[in-house]
Amino acid sequence: MERKIIKTGDGSATIHIPEWNEQYHSKHGALQEAMHVFIKMGLDFTIAEFNKSELSILEIGFGTGLNALLTAFYGSTVKIDYTGVEAYPVKPEELEVLDYASVLPDFDTAEAVFNKMHQIDWEKSAAITSNFSLKKQEKTFQEIEDQDTFDLIYFDAFGARVQPELWTEDIFLKMYNSLKINGVLVTYAAKGSVRRAMQTVGFTVERLPGPPGKREMLRAVKK
Ligand SMILES: C[S@@+](CC[C@H](N)C(=O)[O-])C[C@H]1O[C@@H](n2cnc3c(N)ncnc32)[C@H](O)[C@@H]1O
Repeated sequence: MERKIIKTGDGSATIHIPEWNEQYHSKHGALQEAMHVFIKMGLDFTIAEFNKSELSILEIGFGTGLNALLTAFYGSTVKIDYTGVEAYPVKPEELEVLDYASVLPDFDTAEAVFNKMHQIDWEKSAAITSNFSLKKQEKTFQEIEDQDTFDLIYFDAFGARVQPELWTEDIFLKMYNSLKINGVLVTYAAKGSVRRAMQTVGFTVERLPGPPGKREMLRAVKK
C-alpha cells in the first residue's frame, strides 16, 4: 500500500495511507497523542501506581518507533525492556523524512538513540541506552503467544474502521494473557465495542480524557 509522510497539527510528522485514509498517528498531533496516551496515561501511570523500578513493555504496532523513542527518554529513571511487534516495517528513507529526533530537546542524543533502534537486528534484544533494551519482532499481532510477561502494553493498531479484526475479544485475550497481574494496557481508542471486548476477557477498564482533538481514550488493568 502507498504511504505518504504528512505534517500533523502540532508540527510533528506521521505516515498517511491514502487507500485507507488512515494515519499512523492522530492528525491533530502525532507527538501530542503519543505523549498523552502512551507516556502520561501509560508509562507514568504504571511507574507511579505500582512503584516500579523495572518495566517490561510490549508495543502493538512498533511502526515508526516514535513511542519507543519517547519511552527511552521519558522513562529513563527506570530500567525498561521493550518489545515492539510489527508485521510491515517502516523503510529507512521514510524514517529520515519523519525526523522524530527533532521533537526531543536533545537532538543529537535522540538521533543516535532513534538510529540505533532502527539499525539493530530483528528478533534479538539489544541495549539502546544503559537503561533501555529493545527487541523488535517481525510478526503479526495474531501470532503473539506470550504469557505473564509484560507490565505495560501500548496498543497502537490502526483503527477498527480499517482493521476490525485487531479489536476483537481474541486479540484482547492474547493481550490479557501476555500481561502480568496489575499489568496495564493503554490505547487511543474509546469505542464502546472495544471497551466491552476488553471487559469480556477480564480487564478492568477506565475511560480517560483523550489527547487534543479526541474526547476519550481507554486504559485497562489486569487485576
Ligand atoms: C497506528 S500504526 C502504529 C504506529 C506506531 N506505534 C508508531 O508510533 O509509529 C499501526 C501499525 O501496526 C502495523 N500492523 C498492522 N496490521 C498488523 C498486524 N496484523 N500485525 C502486526 N502489525 C500490524 C502497521 O504496519 C503499523 O505500523
